Amino acid sequence: MARQIPPDAVIEALGQVKYPGYAADIVTLGMVEDVQPTPTGYAVVMRQATERDEVMKRLAEDVHRVLAHDLGVAQVELRVRRVEAELGEKTGRVRLEGTKHIIAVGSGKGGVGKSTVAANLAAALAHLGLSVGLLDADIYGPSIPMMFGTTEERPKAAGGNNFYPVEKFGVKLVSIGFFLNDRAPVIWRGPMVMGAVRQFLKDALWGSQDFLIVDLPPGTGDAQLTLAQQVALDGAIVVSTPQDVAVLDAMRAVKMFRQVHCPILGIVENLSFFVCPDCGERDDLFGSGGGERMAKEEGTEVLAQIPIYPEVRAAGDSGMPIVIKEPRHPASQAFLDLARKVVAAVPD
Ligand SMILES: Nc1ncnc2c1ncn2[C@@H]1O[C@H](COP(=O)(O)OP(=O)(O)OP(=O)(O)O)[C@@H](O)[C@H]1O
Ligand SMILES: [Mg+2]
Repeated sequence: MARQIPPDAVIEALGQVKYPGYAADIVTLGMVEDVQPTPTGYAVVMRQATERDEVMKRLAEDVHRVLAHDLGVAQVELRVRRVEAELGEKTGRVRLEGTKHIIAVGSGKGGVGKSTVAANLAAALAHLGLSVGLLDADIYGPSIPMMFGTTEERPKAAGGNNFYPVEKFGVKLVSIGFFLNDRAPVIWRGPMVMGAVRQFLKDALWGSQDFLIVDLPPGTGDAQLTLAQQVALDGAIVVSTPQDVAVLDAMRAVKMFRQVHCPILGIVENLSFFVCPDCGERDDLFGSGGGERMAKEEGTEVLAQIPIYPEVRAAGDSGMPIVIKEPRHPASQAFLDLARKVVAAVPD
């Protein structure tokens, strides 16, 4: 009898359903909230993690397959709980019509190389022939204009509130940095931050693009959480260093993205190791294995380990991400591999 199938077995079976396009399953991703026995089978209470109907439809089919077909549950009912209602959002998440995938780059703490990763990932995706935008959502410390050598540029107005992103190295850039003059201190209150980012997203004429990479401010406080809620994110990358403290912070970032039901694409371990320029030997300056350990615990994966190279910093400081400046450099190769993984990880 179907009713005798224990809830644990149902959860276990649901653990075989991968979120479409991702390596992780829906239980690990925290999408399954509850399984409730019904007189004729089971009801699965699931969070709506995306506004893409085709993804939800595919999930419903897969859930049905593992429960009804594989496990023998007579009747499977899927109850999808809308995320907006839960988050109490009045305004709804910003979706961009022409953008296929919005990917956030976040970190638990500052200075781990989040902007460097975001900038090089965007440049690497462009290098691979994809159309890419990069939104600098770090209102307090925008560094994208510097990294792309566009501090002097200003977006062109396009009528009404609309404007064109600044384009450089094949990447469309939007940053608060373009709207500030040099000496204006950036003292924003929370609501202004949200307002600004919302406006950037909506008013910029991004056109059609395969990816929009969002460089989030460091940390996991209210500002980051709200930002992550404001945008309909399709995936998140968490940047960490191998040090244990940074890893703990990164874990917080993973949890934050889970809280807003954003699938985690994986961890990027930055400043991962140093290659001695003389002998070519690898030195794990900050210890090793931290990212791997965390990824395992959190049911995600390490997408890339980016070594420390002075050239990475020099390139960023000179206004040209290393992927553009020296595409053959080992660090660039690591960023290009990361970009390929990101492409492979998102649904078509
Ligand atoms: N792999 C690397 N090798 C060498 N230098 C690096 C590497 N990654 C980042 N850096 C340098 O470390 C510094 C901090 O990096 P970045 O600004 O990207 O960090 P962040 O996490 O965005 O910081 P913030 O929290 O201030 O936004 C920069 O000077 C950058 O050039
Ligand atoms: Mg930064």
